[in-house]
Amino acid sequence: MTGADLGRRAAQAGEAALAGVDRAALPGFMRRLDEAALLAMAATLHGAGAFVDGRAHTTDQVADLLRVAVRHRWILRRWLTVLTREGWLRHDDDTGRHHHLRPASRADLAAATRDLDAARAGLGYPAAMTRFFTTSAEHLPELLRDEIPLQALLFADDDLATAEAAYKDNVINGYLNAVAGRVLGDLAGRRRGPEPLRVLELGAGVGGTTADVLPALADRPVVYQFTDVSRFFLEAARERFAGYGFLRYGLFDINADVLRQGVPAGSQDVLLAANVAHNAVDVTRLLGGLRDLLAADGVLLLIESCREHHQIATSMQFLMSARPGVPAAGSADLRASTDRIFLTREQWLTQLTAAGFTPMLCLPTVDDPLAALGQHVFVAGR
Ligand SMILES: C[S@@+](CC[C@H](N)C(=O)[O-])C[C@H]1O[C@@H](n2cnc3c(N)ncnc32)[C@H](O)[C@@H]1O
Repeated sequence: MTGADLGRRAAQAGEAALAGVDRAALPGFMRRLDEAALLAMAATLHGAGAFVDGRAHTTDQVADLLRVAVRHRWILRRWLTVLTREGWLRHDDDTGRHHHLRPASRADLAAATRDLDAARAGLGYPAAMTRFFTTSAEHLPELLRDEIPLQALLFADDDLATAEAAYKDNVINGYLNAVAGRVLGDLAGRRRGPEPLRVLELGAGVGGTTADVLPALADRPVVYQFTDVSRFFLEAARERFAGYGFLRYGLFDINADVLRQGVPAGSQDVLLAANVAHNAVDVTRLLGGLRDLLAADGVLLLIESCREHHQIATSMQFLMSARPGVPAAGSADLRASTDRIFLTREQWLTQLTAAGFTPMLCLPTVDDPLAALGQHVFVAGR
C-alpha cells in the first residue's frame, strides 16, 4: 500500500464517521461555544469588581483583585489577551492597562448557557459536557483562587464520563479517531511475516482514542503499550480493555528522557500521541526523542488541538498549571513566554519536518469546515 492509498483510506474512514453531520453548521456552533466562554470570563472579572466606572488596570492589578493563585496567573493573562483580541476589552499599550470591558450580566450568562447546550448538541458532545462547562464557568472565581481543583469537577465521583466526552464522544474526535484507527489497522494489515506491529501510545489517559482504535487492531498481530504519566489511568484502562490480550500498561513521561524509560531505541512501529504532545516542555526535544524510539519505517500519529478554544481557557486549562508550590516549568520551545499551550497546524508541520519526520497526512484539510474546530490528526513517517 502506498502512502497515497493510506491517506485516501484514512480520509474515507473519517468521512464515514461524519455520516449525518451537517458540517457546514460546525463553525457556527464553535463560535457559540467561544462566545459563551468569553462571557464567562467577562462575568468573572466584573464579579470581582474589575473595570467598574471606567477604571483601568494592569494585568497584575486584575490578578490581585481576583486573588488569582500564582500558578494560575498565566490563565488570567491568556483571558485578557483573548478578550482584547476578540474586541471585549481594550488595552492601552502605552500604560499597559486594560479598560472598558464589555458588560456581562447574569441574564447574558443564562442565555449563553442555553446557547452552549445547543452548540454542544450540534458538535455532538453529550449533555455531560454542557454541565461540565457550565459548572466550570460558575466556579471560575474559586478555580482561579485555587480553592477547588478542576479535577473535582471533571472527575466528580471518580467518574471518567465527562473527560471521555471531551476526548471521544463528539464530532471531531469521532472523525480524528476514525482516521487514526484506519491508519493503525492498515499499518497492521500490511505487515509481512509473523512479527507483531509494535504500538506505543503516550498520554493515553482516559483511553478515549484507545477505545476507538483498538477494534481496528483486533485479530491482528500487535503489541500495544498503553502508557501515561499518571498511574491513575492505568488501573482504569486495565479493567476497561481487559478483552484485548495484546495490551501492556506502563508509566511513560514525555518530558523525561524517552530513551530511559524501558523502551529501546528503534523498537516501535507506531507512536500514538492523542492530545498529549502539547504537554511537552519542549516539543522540538520531544519530537527528536520520539523519532529515536521508532523503527526505520516507523510512523508517528499525532492528534492535537491547533487553536486556543476559549471554552478550554475557562475549564481544561486549569489542569495545565504547575502543581501547587512547584515553579512553572514554562515552555522551552517556540511557545516560550507566550502563555500559549497549543501549536498551530502549520507549526506542528514545521516542527515535524525540522525533527526529521516526513509528514504524510494532516486531516481535516484547511478548506474543510471541520477545520474550524481546530483539531487535527498528523501522520508522519520517520
Ligand atoms: C488531554 S488528555 C488526553 C487523553 C487521551 N490521549 C485521549 O485523547 O483520549 C492528556 C493526557 O496526557 C497525560 N499527560 C500529561 N502530561 C504528560 C507527560 N508529561 N507524559 C505523558 N503523559 C502526560 C495526562 O495524564 C492525560 O492523560
